[in-house]
Amino acid sequence: MRSFHILMVIAAVGIVVSLGLQLLIPAGPPPKLTVQVTEPALSAEAARGKATFEKFCRECHGPSAGGSDQGPPLVHRIYHPDHHADGAFLLAVRNGVRRHHWPFGDMPPRPEVSQAQAAEVARYVRELQQANGIF
Ligand code: HEC
Repeated sequence: MRSFHILMVIAAVGIVVSLGLQLLIPAGPPPKLTVQVTEPALSAEAARGKATFEKFCRECHGPSAGGSDQGPPLVHRIYHPDHHADGAFLLAVRNGVRRHHWPFGDMPPRPEVSQAQAAEVARYVRELQQANGIF
């Protein structure tokens, strides 16, 4: 009986503490996840990649892949070629991406974009990354 009381007290304290925490931590606006990107002069391959990017990727990854409220910046150290090689772009386009690094949700596949075009988008993002100090 005594241990039951102790359990009840622990449960009550837990409820009070978690309610208190919810009041203390305000549900403010989502954190700002966009970055300022400067576009360098692009190679011909990257320029083709940019055209594809504008059409099929920009709505989420933002202007110059600087991010938006729908998706992450690709000009970001997370997408440094050592972490996400160009193959990650081909896979992302073909299969989509499960949410794992960011709070935006899953990326849907982009069947309109060929693997060759995805490689050009990767080239574009690499040139942006290089011009903006990612590597
Ligand atoms: C509807 C929104 C949306 C569109 C359109 C979109 N993406 Fe994404 N993408 C995301 C989100 C969200 C993530 C991050 C998922 C995570 O890691 O949480 C992501 C992640 C990625 C990644 C990282 C993959 C990995 O392995 O972590 C690559 C590369 C990528 N996108 C490329 C592209 C390309 C190229 C296009 C255009 C052909 C594109 N995305 C269009 C939302 C989008």
